Amino acid sequence: MCGIVGIVGRKNCIKEIISGLYALEYRGYDSSGLALIKNNKFEFSKNIGKISNLEKGVKKNKLSGNIVIAHTRWATHGRPSINNSHPFIKQNCALVHNGIIENYEDLIKYHSINKKNLKSDTDSEVIAEIYNKLLNHFNNPIEAIKSLNKKILGSFSFAFLVLGTKSIYVSRRGSPLVLGLGDDFNSVSSDALGLPDNTKEIIYLEENDIAQINESTISVFDHNSKSIKRERHKFIPKKGFKIKGNYKHFMEKEIFHQPISIEDTILNFADKKRKTVYLPKTNIKFNDFSNIILIACGTAYHSCMVAKYWLEAMTNLNVSIDIASEYRYRKSKISKRSLGVVVSQSGETMDTLKCLKKFKQKKIPTISIVNVLNSSISRLSDFILPTLAGPEIGVASTKAFTSQLSVLALFVLNIQQENGAINKLYFNSIFKIHDSINKILKKNDDYKKIAQTLADTKSIFYIGRGVMYPIALEGALKLKEITYKHCEGYAAGELKHGPLALIEKNIPVIVLAPSDENFLKLLSNIQEVKARGGRIIMITDKDGAKKAKKFCDHIIIIPKTNFFTSPIIYSLPIQLIAYYLAIFIGTDVDQPRNLAKSVTVE
Ligand code: G6P
Repeated sequence: MCGIVGIVGRKNCIKEIISGLYALEYRGYDSSGLALIKNNKFEFSKNIGKISNLEKGVKKNKLSGNIVIAHTRWATHGRPSINNSHPFIKQNCALVHNGIIENYEDLIKYHSINKKNLKSDTDSEVIAEIYNKLLNHFNNPIEAIKSLNKKILGSFSFAFLVLGTKSIYVSRRGSPLVLGLGDDFNSVSSDALGLPDNTKEIIYLEENDIAQINESTISVFDHNSKSIKRERHKFIPKKGFKIKGNYKHFMEKEIFHQPISIEDTILNFADKKRKTVYLPKTNIKFNDFSNIILIACGTAYHSCMVAKYWLEAMTNLNVSIDIASEYRYRKSKISKRSLGVVVSQSGETMDTLKCLKKFKQKKIPTISIVNVLNSSISRLSDFILPTLAGPEIGVASTKAFTSQLSVLALFVLNIQQENGAINKLYFNSIFKIHDSINKILKKNDDYKKIAQTLADTKSIFYIGRGVMYPIALEGALKLKEITYKHCEGYAAGELKHGPLALIEKNIPVIVLAPSDENFLKLLSNIQEVKARGGRIIMITDKDGAKKAKKFCDHIIIIPKTNFFTSPIIYSLPIQLIAYYLAIFIGTDVDQPRNLAKSVTVE
């Protein structure tokens, strides 16, 4: 989603600004722009499409400057166009904005804004208009921001340039901003990845903070414009995250990184020799709870679905799960003996963050399972279980998902450990995931061949039972996200309640079929598909292949798994199928149309 970068330095910083925008590309965007102050005048450039288009425009117009703000836009109000892209420039200010201003129509009326002055369809331009008026009124950029923020309903992070100053002015509510301190520059970004590599320290702004960034100083103010101190953290640049290496796409790199990312995550929390799980120390005693509520969005929600199967089978807890955008508004009862768990790769997903706040209001303990440390979700929760997947750039989540599953697996084993009875078979099996995944990745040609057979089909189905049901949903989501093909994931037993009507000759149905206690039932489901002409592609182990061979059009054999490891291991085939199909079709794998990596709007 939208991204902000701003730098105030001694030297021309256009190169660093463009590099910051490239670093934010992974979030998903459809247009970009920048503005700078030169000789007390604004200069700017905007373009739709890739950042390389903006870069060309900047070069062509020979833009250079040392006070610059820039933006990647993911359209919410108004289609992607130059007019709708940021920065918005008014008489005395230029603005870039992330988030959504809910009351922008009321603000237009209340502040008697002449609609002729609004050249875009965005909520953001209204803010630039009002801020410009407030600047004239207060003649003090910080006081003007304080007054502006009081008028706004919704979420925002703003970065303003103001004529007559040599500063960038920023503020945030509900949408993250991080400040970067360097030797001869200071900077701001919506994501630490967007800061210059030679940044020394960073400050995470808190809700309603306002800040003034100058070349050599940074001043932070609270919502009442009272000067405050915020903690500084050492900046560790994420070297290598921008490099694809020998891979064609970040998604490919991330899929193939999974033997390492899963192992890193598992070894961080488990000692194989001592057969012990070591979660970071916490005051939370799992025995104190009777309920666990797991909340997330998208792929992360599928990891919660898997966790529900594990927790129900392996602990005495009642488990409820929900999609964050629904749970936020549900009037569900939350008992005092509940533990709230949110799962998020980015740690910034707005709906998930709001659910965490709901848990906090209900005063129940909270845990976040996040990949981006120091994200809004990790900072707000009582306790963090990090997934050690490393930065994930591809919009379609792969390695973050399997790391979420790995953490959740250890979380379940930890509860068993506290209760005095860890499942040794499952514990030992998590250390074998690495080898199984390597075997699958070595046979990646199998998935290329299958993907090729899917290129001309109009619809594809994924089915599975038990812990394979969430993976079927994830398989369908991966395929939709990057191939734009119609694909549905179904619990195999549910086929006859509707989707069978869509099965006709040669419609591919991909069956996730470890040879477990559900296998025979699954065989009956594939007969139902076969009887209607569907094409069965089965992913199973050797035992499953023996039993199912005669019913299948294609079989891919993968290593044997169990109830605990199968969701993690079967995630690889579904990712590879989606990836190779996208390659055949020729879609933009890392930045699929209309999607964003970090969804910071509601
Ligand atoms: C977006 C991403 C998905 C992700 C979902 C939740 O839709 O494209 O890959 O699963 O948001 O994001 P989170 O960062 O909270 O895991």
